[in-house]
Amino acid sequence: MALTLITGGTVVGPTGRSRADVLLDGEQVAALLRPGDTSLGVDLASVAQTVIDATGKYVIPGGVDPHTHMELPFGGTAASDTFETGTRAAAWGGTTTIVDFAVQRTGERVQDSLAAWFAKAEGNCAVDYGFHQILGGVDDDSLRAMDELVAEGITSFKLFMAYPGVFYSDDGQILRAMQKAATNGSLVMMHAENGIAIDVLVRQALDRGETAPSFHGTTRPWETEEEATHRAIMLARLAGAPLYVVHMSAKQAVATLARARDDGWNVFGETCPQYLYLSLEEQLGAPGFEGAKWVCSTPLRSRAEKHQDELWRYLRTGDLSVVSTDHCPFCFKEQKELGLGDFSKIPNGIGGVEHRLDLVYQGVVDGRISLERWVELCCTTPARMFGLGDRKGVLTPGADADVVVYDPAGHTSIGYPTDGNGKTHHMNMDHSAWEGFEIDGHVDVVISRGKVLVSGGEYHGHPGHGRYLRRSHSAYLR
Ligand code: URP
Ligand code: ZN
Ligand code: ZN
Repeated sequence: MALTLITGGTVVGPTGRSRADVLLDGEQVAALLRPGDTSLGVDLASVAQTVIDATGKYVIPGGVDPHTHMELPFGGTAASDTFETGTRAAAWGGTTTIVDFAVQRTGERVQDSLAAWFAKAEGNCAVDYGFHQILGGVDDDSLRAMDELVAEGITSFKLFMAYPGVFYSDDGQILRAMQKAATNGSLVMMHAENGIAIDVLVRQALDRGETAPSFHGTTRPWETEEEATHRAIMLARLAGAPLYVVHMSAKQAVATLARARDDGWNVFGETCPQYLYLSLEEQLGAPGFEGAKWVCSTPLRSRAEKHQDELWRYLRTGDLSVVSTDHCPFCFKEQKELGLGDFSKIPNGIGGVEHRLDLVYQGVVDGRISLERWVELCCTTPARMFGLGDRKGVLTPGADADVVVYDPAGHTSIGYPTDGNGKTHHMNMDHSAWEGFEIDGHVDVVISRGKVLVSGGEYHGHPGHGRYLRRSHSAYLR
């Protein structure tokens, strides 16, 4: 088996940091050693096939992004990253595991939809991948299917309180799915927005001639997120099930979640970099049709109302547990443009799978979170939350050899320059939602199950390296 030795770095985990050399044996972490440790009786640097000098750098577990949508069909088009392009971009950014969403459309068998997602991903992924299952129609068949899927390693199910007529489940359907989750130990992930109320507001806005992208935000006000979050928590309580609320953007919704947690309820929240940095005023409200680049749901929130600062605070204090990307890219040309003259036809989603580690690291630089919390939010907790904690998100002997060497003295410019210098990201998009972002830090080396995917600014990965991950139950279940 090939040995890889990473020397001289500072190993950072969720509970602390220390100077250590990291020894990888084939696809697994073999040992963390005190620098210069000779107790093994061999000079590891001379026997290892690969030696990586991490002096002055952080050595962290590979990133785990538990919320991506490669090839998601949405609004008459499909997310522009395939599993091949999207996982390659993830690798460039230090994410070595994704959990994507298989989508059951109303009327389709859950098992058939899952088979279609396996077929899309198999042989194409650069990094390891698992699936959640979106339930587009809760009925007796799909409830039975939940048990079957849990046995196959799909231990989480996403439901939508938004998008009536597309993905929407009513309260009775949600309650039944949660009752099933309470019996089979799976985790319900909720898109918490009151879609029925939103549809009324959207219709009224369009009737007033309000067609620009910014009206996507004003017709999905924080009340619709907080109300749905509250309802989801109550339904979970009724069912005796845990709950994970995805892509939270409204500070009021997180406050509701935090109160339930204070009362001892098993509820968790996730946010995404776009909600930490971008806003209704600056991005969604950009002149003309430009704001379409930032149409996503839940929407970007007002900076004047300080949602972004509050979300950082909730990340720091622990009421938000995970940062995912909700990577759902659409090109501007011909995809976002489907909503020219009608914001409600703009496909919802932002691409960012490549930038999560960098963007959240900027929170360390800015003094908003600690180095350890960065690792916990981006690597350890997502792995544990979704039943991968024994293999992913940690650097302990026996864990998968997924490692990122991160250079705090490096620099990352994010964007999609149109000045002839070519693009600076690897996602299949014709623009960047993160244009002009400058990061004090850089992903230097990325290793997935012992294989170096990125180093020295070069890509060494290939489609098919990534393997399917059969997940266990969440480590956060009671
Ligand atoms: O706008 C978003 N979030 N698009 C992806 C689908 C979803 O609801 O997560
Ligand atoms: Zn959603
Ligand atoms: Zn999503």
